[in-house]
Amino acid sequence: MSLAGKRILLIVSGGIAAYKSLELVRLLRRSGCAVSAVLTAGGAHFVTPLSLQALTEEKVHADLFSLTDESEMGHIQLSRAADLVVVAPASADILAKMAHGLASDLATTLLLATDKRVLVAPAMNVRMWEHAATVANMQTLRDRHVAVVGPDEGVMACNEFGFGRLAEPAAILAAIESLLLAPTPLAGRHALVTSGPTHEPIDPVRYIANRSSGRQGHAIAGALAALGARVTLVSGPVAIPTPPGVDLVAVETAADMLAACTQALPADIAVFAAAVADWRTEAAGLKLKKTPGAAPPALALVLNPDILATIAHATPRPRLVVGFAAETHDVIAHATAKRLRKGCDWIVANDVGEGTNIMGGAENEVHLITEFGIENWPRLAKADVAARLAHRMAEVFA
Ligand code: C5P
Repeated sequence: MSLAGKRILLIVSGGIAAYKSLELVRLLRRSGCAVSAVLTAGGAHFVTPLSLQALTEEKVHADLFSLTDESEMGHIQLSRAADLVVVAPASADILAKMAHGLASDLATTLLLATDKRVLVAPAMNVRMWEHAATVANMQTLRDRHVAVVGPDEGVMACNEFGFGRLAEPAAILAAIESLLLAPTPLAGRHALVTSGPTHEPIDPVRYIANRSSGRQGHAIAGALAALGARVTLVSGPVAIPTPPGVDLVAVETAADMLAACTQALPADIAVFAAAVADWRTEAAGLKLKKTPGAAPPALALVLNPDILATIAHATPRPRLVVGFAAETHDVIAHATAKRLRKGCDWIVANDVGEGTNIMGGAENEVHLITEFGIENWPRLAKADVAARLAHRMAEVFA
């Protein structure tokens, strides 16, 4: 595989494994890839700027406040010009800074400013790797879609045994190739995805909502982007990060969501994973007051627009319209009827009954209902359901 025409921004942080980054640069250069290197102060204790410069055949960047660099190429530019940012080795310190959004030197400033995917190759002592702080930091980074390679298990420089050794340069190269050279069957296609709950105001301080976390919809948006689609993600209020490569339109109410979806057309694919509130109230302009002795206010509910049904009948209609059916009983029967009633091509049906831990959980067990019949999928991580669905969608456009 060739990485010709690609550019990697390689950040070398501190640690005895930093010498292996030189071998990584050699492999990348042999694969036709340009490498801009940034050396942290810690990294500079283990490799010299000169050796990195010789291997990358480019100036090595180290100082955030270098005036010449700022005029030649602002630090933001450095990350914008790259196709991928790779941190190898990634010390416990730089991973902690990334997780907490610190921008205390050039490397961490670039990591905070980048709009590109980031791959980290952690390397540290096994106790540091297993420390609750590092475990939490890694979880934060994974949740933000930072890709991770390694660490490997083995004897470390400090003679302890365990996980913490930097992944071999060949394995880091393979991880880079799989991120940069993944097939993009949906390139040139536009996908619209709705996700999350909607919030319907009762008055200026209260609202009606539901337990949707947005995890499934966001994962589908990310999976479609990973296959090369341009993705517009219209999401209600959620507490999860936006997947890389996805354009987010944040909304609150069903009415806002419908307007954003209509505005996002035309689209080739439209996936409606949002748990849209079926009803809204005629919201009061002022806060409803609790008057002692008075009866509680009655909330008059008004039907919300059906976004899926509206877009499924829009002109031009997206070629593939996919709806969700979250049911607590008679899942297949209800979902099959829903597919026809709403005018969508596929329905992804799931049982959200008590004890399934699907709504808001990390896993999903779905049935895919198409014009050809019903497929019962096993219980999978929501990310895996999303990847499988995205591949099935790509087949429609093959
Ligand atoms: O009718 P029901 O809410 O069960 O339908 C679920 C499907 O319809 C989901 O795909 C959901 O995103 C979509 N929907 C919608 N607008 C609504 C209600 C549901 O787009 N107002």
